[in-house]
Amino acid sequence: MPTHAARAPGRVNLIGEHTDYSEGLVLPMAIDRGCNCVGRVASVPSPADSAMIRIWSENERSLQTFAANNVGPGAAWRGRGWPAYAAGVIANIRDLATRPLPSMDIAVAGDVPIGAGLSSSAALEVSLATIISELSGLALDPSALARVARAAERGYAGVPCGIMDQLVSAVARKNHALLIDCRDEQSTPISLGTLDDARVLVIDSTVKHALVSGEYKRRADGCAEAARILGVRALRDASLPLIANHTEALGDELTRYARHVVTENARVAAFVTALAARDRAALGPLMLSSHVSLRDDFRVSCPELDAIVEAAINGSSGTGGVLGCRMTGGGFGGSAVALVEPYAIDACIERVERTTKDRFGITPRSFIVTPSEGARAWLL
Ligand code: GLA
Repeated sequence: MPTHAARAPGRVNLIGEHTDYSEGLVLPMAIDRGCNCVGRVASVPSPADSAMIRIWSENERSLQTFAANNVGPGAAWRGRGWPAYAAGVIANIRDLATRPLPSMDIAVAGDVPIGAGLSSSAALEVSLATIISELSGLALDPSALARVARAAERGYAGVPCGIMDQLVSAVARKNHALLIDCRDEQSTPISLGTLDDARVLVIDSTVKHALVSGEYKRRADGCAEAARILGVRALRDASLPLIANHTEALGDELTRYARHVVTENARVAAFVTALAARDRAALGPLMLSSHVSLRDDFRVSCPELDAIVEAAINGSSGTGGVLGCRMTGGGFGGSAVALVEPYAIDACIERVERTTKDRFGITPRSFIVTPSEGARAWLL
């Protein structure tokens, strides 16, 4: 019988896209879909030299056994699906622990749609990190769990991501979004009560374009290079006049990346101010300009997401019960997020479906998400 359980949520990002690896601002919220684990310290003694950690994935219907002392190096796990995340979590917790990990049996099951840009991988990593930390008696705090999870994603899955997904999954608060300053990784819960009745609608395009991780790395490397040319620590420290003075050295692509990061950081700050002031009319234009910047400057959107956003806001944001809409997550497919009054939800979904069916022959999956709490563990 399992003795412990853990749960960690996926996330949707309200605004602040592709800014985390430039030490910028992001405003994600945890959603009511996540990854659940149960586990126990194994009753069968393990070989003296290495704990054996057995993990059953209910979604994949597969069992993997990891020898804790022998899971690295990360590069060997690239492209191997869920076991890469598990191996990365085990290796990073092992390296933090002051004593050997025990052998464990764990089962994991999640309901975050995969490939939808809702961080199913962060949910998996953080829930595994939580249960392994508990079963090992380490009781790592939420920020440490997030760092373990991110190290797994970077080193084992090979995605040079920022801290947003793992941190919000680990520390989010119910009914709140999380303003994260990705420079010092400090986070501040921001109440979403000021949205009144408006709901958060996720519209999963169901499309995933190829070469996502290559394009992501290209952006991450490009932002680092742009910061170097501008003479700042990270694009977080750049400004529009500074960029304007360096457009020749930056060239077109890096100028666009830098402009996106600078303007997106300003939009996050303005969004938080608008939420606090209950200025709901300000939210839609900020979401739309975030989308346009991701589409035209950062170039991580795709025709399907552009069409979804346009159909959702019906040509103009802030009207017809749709406060705003934008693509969310890494891009190149995945989801859009909209803020919608309850009475307008069905019509919004219907408009989006009509458009995408006609233009692309796809039917997005749309669902309401509620701002949920971050990772938790329980004794059973
Ligand atoms: C992915 C990454 C995050 C972040 C977003 C884009 O979700 O994992 O770190 O960079 O893309 O905002």
